[in-house]
This record gives sequence, structure tokens and C-alpha cells, in this order.
Amino acid sequence: MQFSVKTGEPSSLHCTCLVAGVFEGGKLTPVAQILDKASHGYIGKVFKSGALEGRNGQTLLLFQVPGIAAERLLLVGLGAEKDSTLRAYRKAVHKATRALNDSGVKEAVFALPLLAIPGTDAYQRSRHAVEAAEDAVYRFDQCKSKLDHRKASLQKLTLLVNREDLRAAERGVHDGAAIAAGVALAKTLGNLPPNICTPGYLASEARKLAKGGKLKVTVLEEAQMKKLGMGALLAVTRGSRQPPKLIIMEYHGAAKDKKPFVLVGKGITFDSGGISIKPAAAMDEMKFDMCGAASVFGTMKAITEINPRINFTGVVPSCENLPDGNASKPADIITTMSGQTVEILNTDAEGRLILCDALSYAERFKPAAIVDIATLTGACVVALGNVVSGLLGNDDSLVKELLQAGEQADDRAWQLPLYEDYQDGLKSNFADFANVGGREGGAITAACFLARFTKNMRWAHLDIAGTAWKSGGEKGATGRPVPLLVQYLLDRA
Ligand code: BES
Ligand code: MN
Ligand code: ZN
Repeated sequence: MQFSVKTGEPSSLHCTCLVAGVFEGGKLTPVAQILDKASHGYIGKVFKSGALEGRNGQTLLLFQVPGIAAERLLLVGLGAEKDSTLRAYRKAVHKATRALNDSGVKEAVFALPLLAIPGTDAYQRSRHAVEAAEDAVYRFDQCKSKLDHRKASLQKLTLLVNREDLRAAERGVHDGAAIAAGVALAKTLGNLPPNICTPGYLASEARKLAKGGKLKVTVLEEAQMKKLGMGALLAVTRGSRQPPKLIIMEYHGAAKDKKPFVLVGKGITFDSGGISIKPAAAMDEMKFDMCGAASVFGTMKAITEINPRINFTGVVPSCENLPDGNASKPADIITTMSGQTVEILNTDAEGRLILCDALSYAERFKPAAIVDIATLTGACVVALGNVVSGLLGNDDSLVKELLQAGEQADDRAWQLPLYEDYQDGLKSNFADFANVGGREGGAITAACFLARFTKNMRWAHLDIAGTAWKSGGEKGATGRPVPLLVQYLLDRA
């Protein structure tokens, strides 16, 4: 979609469709007041008739409103004025965009960014409008044999802003479009079927990103993993016919001697559980087990479009987890790149195994901070549901920065404790430690495992098992936590 910003008086704007917000209970926003006046009380009458209550996300499309130059007027509910938040704003934009798209409108002017939402500025309101609108029109249809020709009716959105906010709003549109492109890439990589989106496919995707000339890409093959002693990553890939890849993408936006921020994304392109095989129900959703990797790709895409002055390295360990005569077995003991030995008690706890070697490898970059992103545990979904990502780390300031970025980006995380006491769960009678603890506190013991490989770095871990995709009728990748990660990096520039 195309986005632009402009200034102007809402009632005299000539356009196909003007979109304005209304609060719940008939309280008009300043823009709606202007429109009400120009139309001699038409908007007020609509409320009185009960056709619209102003619930957040509720929409009503009106034609040829007297006194208003726009051909159509789409009113969208913002909810109660006292609950006026960034979230409610984004939801209103999302629903309005869907309504426009469904009604076949090709272009529209949004007056919503004019609204003064507490704690936001014009940059944020235009950025989030772009992000929410792009999220609303995203489709994954490349695997359908017939394309739906009704799709993508909406092509152009103009954001109405105050004159003094023009520059900030333009920046917001630019950054918002970059973030939305990153989110869309993460969604598409997640949605692709696992027979297409293999480790090799992800490696080619990295090379594609490098074509823009802003990235250095290195892909390590199995032979190099062996040389490096990555016994944990190699143990997971044993049952697969697809060659594993360790993908490294380097973006240099600051001086060469500045330490990079490093993101490490879990790239299991299909997780059957291995010999500790999963139940058949919903196993298809384990194609989403590379959504951590997808979020690193999406963040890389957004960053190369925004060009902030930072150094940023993405690391993606990628392979499949499948059963086979050659697959790893429960009770196998392997030696990780760090030299520590691990007893594999459950082959389905494979994410931490590929991540631990990738984290050890990443230590060579001397990260300013390192964050891994992984669909790591079902236990995290039990603890936090699908609303927030789990966040744990060994450095309080890093955890705070990530929590704040999540708030700013409307892509929130919630901290879980990482006390030393939880380490007891990983005890093994035969190796240094095991790859699983008991059922209790599973998201925390998984992080405890990773903590044993990141002692020398400022490290945090995002468990996105509950937030990376949706199940049910709207099954599909969400693109989270690309917005959080991009915000975190922009805040460091
Ligand atoms: N990829 C899964 C985690 C997962 C499961 C995410 C379901 C979202 C939904 C991970 O590799 C896994 O299988 N974890 C196990 C760990 C257990 C064996 C300790 C789990 O959560 O059951
Ligand atoms: Mn697993
Ligand atoms: Zn997994």
C-alpha cells in the first residue's frame, strides 16, 4: 500500500472516503465535531439513531453526507475517551482498514492521526497507523492455485496531520512502512509450508536480503559445524535429510569498532518432536517453529530500510527435528560447542540445543547485548497465553529496555524470574546437565538451560511460543516480535 501525509480541513477534503473516529457514548472527537458542524448535526443524529455506539473497532460507512466534500465518510469507534490508548487507536485503524478493503474503496484519507492520544506524538501515531493498516491487508495466498481477484482493493492511504507535525509524521510513515515490511516478511516465512521453507530456503532468503547491498551474509554448513564442535545442533539435525544451516547476517550502520547488538532466532523449520514424537493433533503448527528465525529476518529487513547508526548481527541456527534410524535418542549424551556435556532426556526439547551452540558461536562478535527469540516452550503459553511474549535474562537493564520497547511498539513482553534455584531442575546423573527439567516452570527451566551458555554476555531470551502465530480460524503467523525488536534497536541508535 502507498502512504502519504497531508494537512487540511476535514469537511472540505475532496476524496473517495474520509475516515474519522468517534468515542463511545456519542462523545465526538474534535474532527467529528467539525464534520458534525459542517453537516448541520448529521453525525449527532447518527448516534441518536443508535446506528453507531462508538465501541472500539465498530464501523459505519455513510454516503454523501451533506456539507462534507468526501464522497463517503467512514466512522470508526475508538471506545471510551478515558480508555484512549495506543492499542485502541491501532484497533480502530485495523478495523477501519478492513472495512474499507471490504467495501472496495481504493483510496482513503485517515483523520485518526489528528487525535491526541495521551503518551503519543505525531511520529508514533502515523507510524502505528501504517503498521496497523498493513497488518489488516496482509494475505498469504501464494500457495492457492487461484488468486482471489477481489483482493487488495485498498491501494492508497493518506494521513491527515497538523501542519507543525508534517515532518514527524513523514518519518513515522517511513519507519512504519519499514516495520510493516519486516512484519510481513516474518509472517510469510512463518506461513510457508515446511516442504518449501527448509533451512536451505532460509539461507537463500538471507542472500536475497543481502542483495540490497547493506548486509554481509555467511552461511555455515554441516562440515563447519563439526569443526566448531557444535554437538548439540548436530544432534538435532541427525534425523533429517535436509542439510542444516547456520546463517549469519551482519548490518554495519555505525563505526566498525562499535559492539554489535546480536539477535539469535530459533529456526526449526519443522518440529515433530523427533523420537520423543509429538501427538498428531495440531502438529502442522510446528511449521511455525522457525518464527524466532523469521523475526530476525523481519527485523533485518526493517533495519536495512531505516538505516539506523548501530551495528546489528542476526544469527539463525536452522534444521528440522524428525524421527529416523539415525536420529538422536533419549539418553544420548552430546558435547556442546562450549565443552559442556548434555544428556538429551527428551528429543522434543530441541530448540535449546540448537540455540546453545548458536549462542556460543555468537560470543565471538562480543555483543553489546544478545537476545535470542524462540518458540521454545508450551509451558510459556500455559503461563502467559497469547497476549505477551515471555522474557527472561541475566541483565536487569537489558530486560527493562526490552520491556519498554515492547510497550512503545505495542508488542508487549512480560518478565519471568530466572533465579538460580530453578537450575536444580536440569540435574543429570550422567552428564553435566540434562536438556529438560520437570513439567513445572517449563519456560523458566528452558531459559535456565540457555543461561548456562551466556554467562559472559548481557543476554535476554524471548519465548514467543504463544505470540508468534494464531491457531483456529485465523491460523497464521503474527510477525511478532518484529515491532519490539526494531523498537529496541532504534532506541539504541
Ligand atoms: N517448539 C516446541 C514448543 C511449542 C510447543 C511451542 C507447542 C508452541 C506450541 C518445543 O520444541 C517443544 O517441543 N518444547 C517442549 C519442551 C518439553 C519437552 C520440555 C514442550 O514445550 O512441550
Ligand atoms: Mn520440540
Ligand atoms: Zn521446537
